[in-house]
Amino acid sequence: MSNFRRGVLLKPISALNLLAALAAPMITAVRAQETPPYRNPRLGVEQRVDDLLARMTLEEKVDMVSGGGWMESKPNARLGIPAIKMADGPVGVRNWYGPSAITMKANSPLPVITSTAFPAGVALGATWDPELLREVGKAIGDEARALGRDMMLGPGVNIVRAPLAGRNFEMYGEDPYLSSRLVVPYIQGMQSEGIIATVKHFAANNQEYERQTIDAKIDERALREIYLPAFRAAVQEAGVWAVMSAYNKVNGHWCAENSWLLTDVLKKEWGFKGLVVSDWKGTHSTAETANAGLDLEMPGAESIRRYDEARVPQSPGDVGSRGAMQTPEKLLPLVRAGEVKEAAIDDKVRRLLRVMFANGLFDHSKPGGGEVDTPAQRALARKAAGEGIVLLKNAGGVLPLLPGKIRSIAVAGPNAAVARTGGGGSSSVKTKSAISPLDAVRERAGSAIQVSYAESLPEAAELAAKADVALVFAGDSAEVEREGRDRESMDLPAGQDELIAAVTKANPHTIVVLNVGAPVAMPWVEQAPAVVNAWFPGEEGGHAIADVLFGDVNPSGKLPVTFPRKLEDSASWGHYPGKDGVVEYAEGIYVGYRHFDKKNIEPLFCFGHGLSYTRFEYSDLQVSPREVTLKVRNIGPRDGAEVVQLYVRQVAPSADQPVKELKAFRRVELRRGEAFPISFALDQGALAYYDTAKKAWVAEPGTYEVLVGASSRDIRVRGSFELAK
Ligand code: BGC
Repeated sequence: MSNFRRGVLLKPISALNLLAALAAPMITAVRAQETPPYRNPRLGVEQRVDDLLARMTLEEKVDMVSGGGWMESKPNARLGIPAIKMADGPVGVRNWYGPSAITMKANSPLPVITSTAFPAGVALGATWDPELLREVGKAIGDEARALGRDMMLGPGVNIVRAPLAGRNFEMYGEDPYLSSRLVVPYIQGMQSEGIIATVKHFAANNQEYERQTIDAKIDERALREIYLPAFRAAVQEAGVWAVMSAYNKVNGHWCAENSWLLTDVLKKEWGFKGLVVSDWKGTHSTAETANAGLDLEMPGAESIRRYDEARVPQSPGDVGSRGAMQTPEKLLPLVRAGEVKEAAIDDKVRRLLRVMFANGLFDHSKPGGGEVDTPAQRALARKAAGEGIVLLKNAGGVLPLLPGKIRSIAVAGPNAAVARTGGGGSSSVKTKSAISPLDAVRERAGSAIQVSYAESLPEAAELAAKADVALVFAGDSAEVEREGRDRESMDLPAGQDELIAAVTKANPHTIVVLNVGAPVAMPWVEQAPAVVNAWFPGEEGGHAIADVLFGDVNPSGKLPVTFPRKLEDSASWGHYPGKDGVVEYAEGIYVGYRHFDKKNIEPLFCFGHGLSYTRFEYSDLQVSPREVTLKVRNIGPRDGAEVVQLYVRQVAPSADQPVKELKAFRRVELRRGEAFPISFALDQGALAYYDTAKKAWVAEPGTYEVLVGASSRDIRVRGSFELAK
């Protein structure tokens, strides 16, 4: 055919063929009319965006920048623009038909959606295993695809600043480097499934108390070094397609209309090409928000009206957010009046279309299928939960439980017979099934070990006194640790400390297993020989706990947050939760272990802490300005994994600097007796701090000490290098 068009007839053709050939240019012209370039999947994304944008009226463009439903953007029937279908995020696919307060109700009138519940963010943070995070992100992406969603509202990377903050369980902990290394593979895994990931909440949503009104006052250095790096990594390293603005204000401006955050830093400085979506009802103005760089307001105005009626205030001062500020009725007159430039609208629509074209929303070209709740997904949930479990204490080697030696186990506690899969709020996932620790312990114990159970005080102590070992399952629930509300204290819920003390007194071989997503006080810690933190471990948490208790999995989780002895020791003490609507981040960069190091305070359990059933020896450290090498050997009785942590300390800084900072880590699995050479590349950029006067990252020449160990306070080998000018 093409030969004919060029006028070169190479072969004799039949009359019929000739007719067809003559008709071809005409048909092509008609098709070209029928199939505009933006519909052609063979063309580049930008070309398709340009073409479609040029076909849209101003009214159509404005119509796109506010939501359609509770979890859908607005479609455009004339041009065939589909809605972006969203779902929370970030531990599995949550019901998208409405807010969690309704979808999680036992008698919810909304359709039921189930998916696999993976461990909470903090549990994933405790794995220190980037490749595992990639698998989890990919598995959730796979389920989202199977359920027909395009965009997941997660992961969350707000830094754990205050121990009581209600959503600490959703995040990866207190350290920006650890959070960055984990969020990148999670996003890459999810987006490799053709699902748009949304990193949230940008920025400084570090407490739930007054989250919808609070103004977080943070100096630029703390923002740059502590609160923003994980977002930056998500944008620049993972290529995340969506960023969700936070509810709160940062330095006087609502995050949804904070042009410094959204335009100057995110879009201009970091080169973000995707879309900024508001948190649900987190907008407060029309022109300011549109001009500051928000691209999509969610949810749609109609669903706000519907669900506001069902809304229950979550904490004192919770006045609810606004939303419905970017509706065509409000925005269009401002564009016509020139208060919002059409170019600003074009930029938003361009971003929305770019994300949609790049992720196959127009072409239905997502890889087919996708599956929910498969044996492989459940196995991954179990593996992830097991890797995240932290063995905090194990005096006298009371763990693991050895079936040959133990004949009876007494189980107690409010968290024994229920599966505490996750914390409360928008991350809550409804699962088809979830196993409780009690059922999993019974299953693993089999008939050789007698398992007795009493939930609480005095029956539990009586059973404990008669058993070889006692297990107390304590901790929080999704009611205690939840979105929308901070905890009131670091204490376990009423009665639990007393229960643990009584059982510990009755049986010296008592193991306390906690489900907490944030630090808790442990007044009984000296008496309890073993303490295990299982966090909120997802639907396979019961199995994972039994795996660790019986030694089928050798624990390797490490704390991604410091556990203080008391609240008064924590970094934000005295400047949390704020006063008169303002919370001053007066501790600056001294968050988490940086604070405990600087003030020389002994925590209950330090950042990076976590024990194993085996032992590791560190040796042969060699340090140069570019590379650190060492050897780690498993010298204990079992195969196991170690998270080797590298901290750097500037010896004589001219500026105010933390005592040490995490700059690299590696999780290595070592068989008994096995040694492994580890090498860390030292990126000199990683030594830089943010100089606010120069408005630049600066690495000072001088001596730097390299500290490598099993936790932030269990440093095994050290060396130093000179950074030349
Ligand atoms: C939460 C977000 C969530 C959104 C949609 C908000 O209240 O802060 O994290 O993605 O609701 O459910």
